[in-house]
Amino acid sequence: MSRQPAPDDSRFLKACRREPVDVTPVWFMRQAGRYLPEYRALRAKHSLLELCHDPALAAEVTLQPIARLGVDAAILFADILLPFEPLGLGLSFSPGEGPQIERPIRDAAAVRELPAVDPALDLGYVLEAVRLAARALPANVPLIGFAGGPFTLASYAIEGGGGGGGGSRTFARTKAFMYQEPDSWHQLLDRLAYLAGRFLAAQAAAGARALQLFDSWVGCLSPQDYHTYVQPHSRRTLTLAVRAGVPVIHFGTGTAPFLEDFAAAGGDVIGVDWRIPIDQAFERVGPARAVQGNLDPAALLAPPAERERQVRDVLAHAGARPGFIFNLGHGVLPETPVEALRAVVELVHGG
Ligand code: CP3
Repeated sequence: MSRQPAPDDSRFLKACRREPVDVTPVWFMRQAGRYLPEYRALRAKHSLLELCHDPALAAEVTLQPIARLGVDAAILFADILLPFEPLGLGLSFSPGEGPQIERPIRDAAAVRELPAVDPALDLGYVLEAVRLAARALPANVPLIGFAGGPFTLASYAIEGGGGGGGGSRTFARTKAFMYQEPDSWHQLLDRLAYLAGRFLAAQAAAGARALQLFDSWVGCLSPQDYHTYVQPHSRRTLTLAVRAGVPVIHFGTGTAPFLEDFAAAGGDVIGVDWRIPIDQAFERVGPARAVQGNLDPAALLAPPAERERQVRDVLAHAGARPGFIFNLGHGVLPETPVEALRAVVELVHGG
């Protein structure tokens, strides 16, 4: 199959560039995943890491939600923690407990001893999945590549595992390391930021037409600590990513208390969660940025009337502004009915 023409006029990419669109584009974080029966069927035969390591399987999973939901963008099937394998931290996923890190980073020596990682070599299987998925997608459905933000990656590397936020609600180990070993902290984030930035650029070179930086857990920080300990590193990643020449989405949850500073780190599109109304997000990130969000994923578990009310509410807050991309404020929950996602796409598209 030959490569299809560059779909620069897709409504998703147009919205990223704040150009007028026929209808609001929509896609969902974690749209490839456990809520889909065809994903669960593959997972019955392969572990999560097996799916990620096999480019053909990863490309297949990437495509699963596209026709089924009618979304305007695809997100590569992979995980933000895959770079932990070449970093020698030891990564596994256990059912119900989320990611497990065998050798968490707990001191300055562990940071110094991290090996150099070249995404083109050490994560080449992800780039191959990008090539396969980009080639197989319809021309009007661009592929989004992604990486984890330096803070979110560091939180898993230091806490060592578990569910959301490295299994920690308080991020106590992460913050203790940050305060007690500030030099090592900055070295660690610098390493992760550089790796993530080069990884994003490599995905764009392989065919990703947009990139998203998932700094999912930065909202656990005070505005001052975000500014001091994280923002310079996120800026480095985003600067490297933007050079690839495709739109970059900068996403975090709980960022409302420091949204201006979060946006100042970079990104053409700022991704926000449901804790801030979309109109306020637009006002605060300023006229040069597009905004993505922000339905509460739990609204997809509500009865249809309440779900519809919440979707219309997000659309009403976005108004007629150019540069709005409809999404959830965080990933699709595994218990979400497929029908609920389809209904949201239809409603956003004006059905
Ligand atoms: O559809 C997509 O969005 C693409 C694929 C994708 C996955 N992980 C696959 C996955 C993406 C974009 C991610 C990003 C990711 N991974 C983030 C950032 C976004 C967010 O949700 O905040 C984070 C923090 C991770 C780390 C991670 N991976 C955790 C905490 C877990 C366990 C929790 C859970 O939901 O089970 C994973 C596992 C994981 N990554 C699954 C999927 C589909 C679920 C796994 C399974 O099949 O067992």
